[in-house]
Amino acid sequence: MSKISAIIAGTGSCLPEKRLTNDDLSKIVETNDEWIAQRTGIRERRIVRSDESTATIASQAATRAMRAAHVEPRKLDLIICCTITPEMQTPSTACFVAASLGLDSTPAFDLAAACSGFIYGLETAASFIQAGRYKNVLVIGAETLSRITDYKDRQSCILFGDGAGAALLQASDEPGRGLIYSSLHADGHGWEMLHCSPGSRHPIDETMVGGRRQFLQIRGREVYKFAVARFQEMIEDAISKSGIPKEQIKLIIPHQVNLRIIDSAMEKLGLPMEKAFVNIDKYGNTSAASIPIALDEAVREGKLVKGDIAVFVAFGAGLTWANAVVRM
Ligand SMILES: CC(C)(COP(=O)(O)OP(=O)(O)OC[C@H]1O[C@@H](n2cnc3c(N)ncnc32)[C@H](O)[C@@H]1OP(=O)(O)O)[C@@H](O)C(=O)NCCC(=O)NCCS
Repeated sequence: MSKISAIIAGTGSCLPEKRLTNDDLSKIVETNDEWIAQRTGIRERRIVRSDESTATIASQAATRAMRAAHVEPRKLDLIICCTITPEMQTPSTACFVAASLGLDSTPAFDLAAACSGFIYGLETAASFIQAGRYKNVLVIGAETLSRITDYKDRQSCILFGDGAGAALLQASDEPGRGLIYSSLHADGHGWEMLHCSPGSRHPIDETMVGGRRQFLQIRGREVYKFAVARFQEMIEDAISKSGIPKEQIKLIIPHQVNLRIIDSAMEKLGLPMEKAFVNIDKYGNTSAASIPIALDEAVREGKLVKGDIAVFVAFGAGLTWANAVVRM
């Protein structure tokens, strides 16, 4: 065990101002507020304007996290941006963020693990810190899912929103603080359940655009079952492997996928719903951004203070799934 702890020294988030309500969507596809709210818990989501992008909202969230941690950009040793909606195919979104922070040699890279991305980023950052390599690592989860959402597909377009969240991970000699346990998982056999085609296998061409396969494709019911099972498994794993009794968990911050999924998993775990942080009603599913946005809100609302135990749990395309136990 490393003597260096990787603590969350500051958090920040950025939600675009533009709101897309369920009523707005009912004017575009055959749906209604009641169906969406009952089946998903979502009431509205935020959508970027045409002059905003993944890098602009990521930079805002990053700036706020650094301000909260009282760390200036030049003190950063590494920037990791977790996203599946990058600024461009190349260079990475993290490079755009670094440039916007005025940096010109700090290492920066993107990490793609879909909705599990932020937890993957957290473990990666903590590993660099615990190895003694870096002291200040910025982990960002940022998405503009509206750019890859098919607003003609009522099953998927109701689910997704845009946003960014960030955490500044810092080396500390306080034992038992910061990231105390995490586990990452992936099974590529399930890629078809949730995917967005454009890439090396299928470059964008007329046939793809004609079939609207440049957008996210989901098999909602299959993902639903996968998410409930993994949610439960990951919380049980976090409790047993970290040795933290479930009564000591202050807050579970799940990936905001569907209120029914969160409800059902919490019930199966015998945990009260008040222990789960939920903001899906306001933002929908923002993939890699959902946990850091929720974390930042929980901190700002005073629901997580120094010493509190938070458990993160996520699942998504890949398929990927992950958990993390953090002492704030
Ligand atoms: C997508 C999801 C909300 C659908 O909810 P569901 O309860 O499984 O609903 P179903 O897909 O079984 O559809 C039920 C009916 O509602 C209809 N329906 C689907 N979307 C609708 C919408 N937006 N508005 C109104 N009706 C809709 C379906 O056509 C179906 O009609 P039918 O019974 O006549 O065939 C749910 O499965 C889900 O949240 N899945 C996971 C989402 C996901 O993949 N997220 C990304 C991964 S992190």
